Amino acid sequence: MNAAPRYLVTMPVPEPGPSLLAASGAVTVLPQPPDHDTLRRLCASGDFDVVLTQLRDVVDADLLAAARVRGVSNFAVGYNNIDVAAATDRGILVGNTPGVLTDATADVAMALVLATARRVVEGDRMVREGRFAGWEPELLLGRDVSGAVLGLAGFGRIARATARRALGFGMEVLFAPRPPGDRPVGDEELGEFAGRVRQVPWEELVARSDFLSLHVPLAASTRHLVDAQVLARMKPEAILINTARGPVVDEAALVEALRAGRIAGAGLDVYEDEPRLAPGLAELANTVLLPHVGSATVSVRREMSRLSALNAVAIAEGRMPPHPVNP
Ligand code: DGY
Repeated sequence: MNAAPRYLVTMPVPEPGPSLLAASGAVTVLPQPPDHDTLRRLCASGDFDVVLTQLRDVVDADLLAAARVRGVSNFAVGYNNIDVAAATDRGILVGNTPGVLTDATADVAMALVLATARRVVEGDRMVREGRFAGWEPELLLGRDVSGAVLGLAGFGRIARATARRALGFGMEVLFAPRPPGDRPVGDEELGEFAGRVRQVPWEELVARSDFLSLHVPLAASTRHLVDAQVLARMKPEAILINTARGPVVDEAALVEALRAGRIAGAGLDVYEDEPRLAPGLAELANTVLLPHVGSATVSVRREMSRLSALNAVAIAEGRMPPHPVNP
């Protein structure tokens, strides 16, 4: 009989993942996220069959070259922290957790639209700091959301869920297929959105959006998709929303554009070099900054835990994971 699978979990995760793994084999959960050398050493040790990773674990070609694991199960839908091509070359299976965080992430995109438009965080600070001196006709005037143009960069699951919410708020919704250069979305693929949202070229999306919300994966082609040139083409009253991946935006250029008033604000859940912020970003009043919590609800994190454990167990037991990234 084969020995029981051995799992490495790089930091504590909620149930039911740990119990599912424990029912299949031996589980080692690291108390803190490992640094790259430690993770490389553990993966190379031959002590583990599958490693359950987080976005902050960099699983690069160097680590994979030394690794003696059969699989990497990422506790996330995004997998830009993993060199999937290098894993595939080495016959290492990779899994992710798609679908379960779509609505939660769209909620955060919409929360950032509302919070930036209506200056929610500034208002909260004012009240807590005792600066609220009573109702005033011109206190913290914000922007109308209803009637504003929401531009979606990309039109995948999370963008569509954001569109659904925005339409409910009376916004005009435009989208550009995943820029740059992705194929246009056919009318037959629009489904419930036919006649309710409009597809436009990326340049038009940038120029027309009151809120430009990013919904593209991080890839070589989308790194710094929003750079100084794009920021310069946005409306001065526009607000940038990013719940996708930090490096899609040139954060230094964003700070510069916000400082200079070239755009009006930003609502960010992700950063270029997490958890560090570009110098100056935290000092700007016209930003709402969240700590990468797009998927952070109790039920979503449970589902992510379940899916990542199911992927890990399947790989360890010699089956295809239910959610493979490199089939
Ligand atoms: C993901 O899953 O890719 C999110 O960014 C983290 O929840």
